[in-house]
Amino acid sequence: MLDSKIFQYTGTTLSCDNVHLDRLADTFGTPLFVTSRKSLVESYMAFERAFEALPHFSCYSVKANFNLSVIKTFSELGCGCDVNSGGELYRALQAGVSPDRIIFAGVGKKPEEIAYALERGVLMLKAESFSELKAIDRIAGGQGKKASVAIRINPNVTAETHPYITTGDSKEKFGIDEAELPEVFDFLGNLQNVKLVGLDMHIGSQIFDTEYYVAATTKLLTILNAAKAHGFTIEFLDIGGGFPVTYDPLKPATPIEQFAEKLIPMLLPTGIKVIFEPGRYLVANASVLLTRILYRKRNHTGKEFFVVDAGMTELIRPALYQSHHEIQSVTRHESTIIADVVGPVCESSDFFARHRAIPDAEEGELLAVMSSGAYAAVMGSNYNGRLRPAEVLVDGSEVTLVRKRETYEQLVQNERF
Ligand SMILES: Cc1ncc(COP(=O)(O)O)c(C=O)c1O
Repeated sequence: MLDSKIFQYTGTTLSCDNVHLDRLADTFGTPLFVTSRKSLVESYMAFERAFEALPHFSCYSVKANFNLSVIKTFSELGCGCDVNSGGELYRALQAGVSPDRIIFAGVGKKPEEIAYALERGVLMLKAESFSELKAIDRIAGGQGKKASVAIRINPNVTAETHPYITTGDSKEKFGIDEAELPEVFDFLGNLQNVKLVGLDMHIGSQIFDTEYYVAATTKLLTILNAAKAHGFTIEFLDIGGGFPVTYDPLKPATPIEQFAEKLIPMLLPTGIKVIFEPGRYLVANASVLLTRILYRKRNHTGKEFFVVDAGMTELIRPALYQSHHEIQSVTRHESTIIADVVGPVCESSDFFARHRAIPDAEEGELLAVMSSGAYAAVMGSNYNGRLRPAEVLVDGSEVTLVRKRETYEQLVQNERF
């Protein structure tokens, strides 16, 4: 369990650590992502504590929040990185992560991305098809190297979560079917430049029920025995990420300790190092998206709207996954009003809340969209010509601008006519 509440009211003003959020909005403008370093550290420590009985290596899944300062924070704590593209690999390296602490995932790695990862010497590439194994073998051979690979297995477990974030089901594009594995093991025997070091899975994201992990891990362990029978020495069992967080206090996430309780007794007897790839768990509750109320309006049916200056271009999760984010006013209000909180983007799906009790704040005041640390800024876009927002990292009373707000010039800098 995380033991501190990072975002809370001091007096009547919402703060992050020791810093009032209105001060940050005045200094850096809005929309603004505010991330607490303390929260990142606490989440990582809680994860590590839960699994401390198991020889393991946690690789932060950079896709959840790829800001360099976030990657660096985890790296300094001893965490590795899970990357999904050449761009994420570049980011991890720029943040100072040693290549031998980086694992490379992705269902569609381009040859140049494979070459880049091999040149830099990542710990392992996770292969998702026969064709990809062939490509890795060819590219490694060209570099005079032997590539360390893990096979990503599709365990055909349909975890109950939003359908867009379930990944371990045979309907989905991810991994190699368990039925094909005997053939894969034979195939690997013929590849000169590839060494099988790991077995990998990732069944989805925001998974509340530990039983899905148990079912998938059971399959992984059966496959481990098959790999051993084929003469392979497996060094890593990669369980993936997917551990849940609380977005809505009415639907609290299953504590990480319950996952550990189920997984440790299954994995410990193997004597093999376990890799975890937590993303959301480490970052979701470390950030808020600060936004200013531009207008309030009421239509003829009496429906109320708060029109704010952030939108789906900064946080697409409500539009994409119908996800819930708590909304708090930066200046505390005792009274609430039933309203929609909507952005300025020209789409009806551009909303943060619908028909929700919202603090009865006035035009010009600030709202904080809570739990905006995971799959938020990273999924941002320039749609409607919108500028990517600034991001700050708060550490106690210290504030660092870790991403500048984009400018109009940057919006067109790669274009010619
Ligand atoms: C391969 C892989 N590992 C790890 C993660 C991180 O998942 P989460 O953020 O739910 O922990 C993802 C997310 O989709 C993923 O695809």
